[in-house]
Amino acid sequence: MKSFTYYNPVKVVFGTDSFESLAKLLPAEGKIMVTMGMGSIRKNGVYDRVMSALAGKDIVEFEGIEPNPEYEKCMEAVRIARSENVRFFLSVGGGSVLDATKFIAAAVLFEGMDPWDILEKGAEIKSALPIGCVLTLPATGSEVNGNSVVSRRAEGKKLAFGSPKVMPQFSILDPSVTLTLDARQTANGIVDAFVHVMEQYLTYDVNTPLQDRQAEAILSTLVELSFQVRQSPDDVDVRANIMWCASNALNMLINCGTVQDWSTHVIGHEITALHGIDHARTLAIVLPANMRHQRKQKGKKIVQYAKRVWGITGQNDEETIDKCIEKTKQFFEETGCPTSLAAYGLKPSDCESISRTLAERGMVIGERGDIGQAEVDAIIELCA
Ligand code: NZQ
Ligand code: ZN
Repeated sequence: MKSFTYYNPVKVVFGTDSFESLAKLLPAEGKIMVTMGMGSIRKNGVYDRVMSALAGKDIVEFEGIEPNPEYEKCMEAVRIARSENVRFFLSVGGGSVLDATKFIAAAVLFEGMDPWDILEKGAEIKSALPIGCVLTLPATGSEVNGNSVVSRRAEGKKLAFGSPKVMPQFSILDPSVTLTLDARQTANGIVDAFVHVMEQYLTYDVNTPLQDRQAEAILSTLVELSFQVRQSPDDVDVRANIMWCASNALNMLINCGTVQDWSTHVIGHEITALHGIDHARTLAIVLPANMRHQRKQKGKKIVQYAKRVWGITGQNDEETIDKCIEKTKQFFEETGCPTSLAAYGLKPSDCESISRTLAERGMVIGERGDIGQAEVDAIIELCA
């Protein structure tokens, strides 16, 4: 096992009664900026519940953060937050609203010339204003980590940053608010969480049997829940378990001391930047292709995953790997996320700029740093 430091100070309040805690978790003084998405919270009652918890507080509302949040929109909030002397942010929505809020909270106090440097140059975040979260979509794990992904569409860029300074102080997780998710967003959440686990697990073995089994437990549970939520979309218990799986998939516990990859996400973010396909849907396309291409490097773990998560054993390892990649594709398809570029009317040639873009950024990906420009091209070919 590798050395690690584990730090996760996010206070999670989970359950259908968790809104009751919101008012007392908020700061007693100082202006609060409430950040919100494109309107789903106004339709499902979340907005009203949040506003009643905020009664008597000094607030400013900031609405209209779009999926795959946009840098320019975030900067609009930064300007308002500075001029209104905001002291605290309350993010109400899915991963996009929270990711945007993390960037805004860091950008308001950023001492450098241009906050874009946080994303483009990995500029150090010395401080950030505190954040609270009311999560409405289980998927990203953003509610329990310090990561954020922001896009700048004018430049065709979707970039990530991470800092413990932007971890939420608290996250309210009420599974009943996820009952209004449609089938597509529900599927996206399950696939995103599944692939988060795979990125941290499907690498090479450094003798982390506990972390392996924690990862496999999340994967197996998500497989069961995918079926259950399609049968019973209104079952709040099923929704609760999806929500807790998604948080556990990226609360940075299962990757303690392990070797991680994240190449599927890096390539997937570029597909979203180019073609606007939902984040999780890009992962459903790229992961099986990546597994096929990296089958030698990842072989031992793929065989373990095949046996423990799917109960697959072939005549030999090669057959086990083939069967298990097919099973993974089938799982994504059944969950509701197509696994080819063709399903979106695209060809690999429509993504040919990706390998160049990543090379220009100096990005070498894969757990052994062995996925360069040619390998990215080959993986994208396999996404056809
Ligand atoms: O904008 P509103 O109107 O709120 O509607 C949203 C949006 O249209 C809707 N929605 C959210 N909660 C709902 C709801 N609709 C009905 N009922 C509810 N309860 O769902 C749509 C998608 O929301 P979004 O926040 O974009 O989805 P998600 O949570 O999947 O976030 C995706 C973003 O997170 C990034 C992705 O790249 C993408 O930009 N990621 C962030 C990560 C992190 N911070 O750790 C890791 C991930 O790998 C990922 O990259
Ligand atoms: Zn993801």
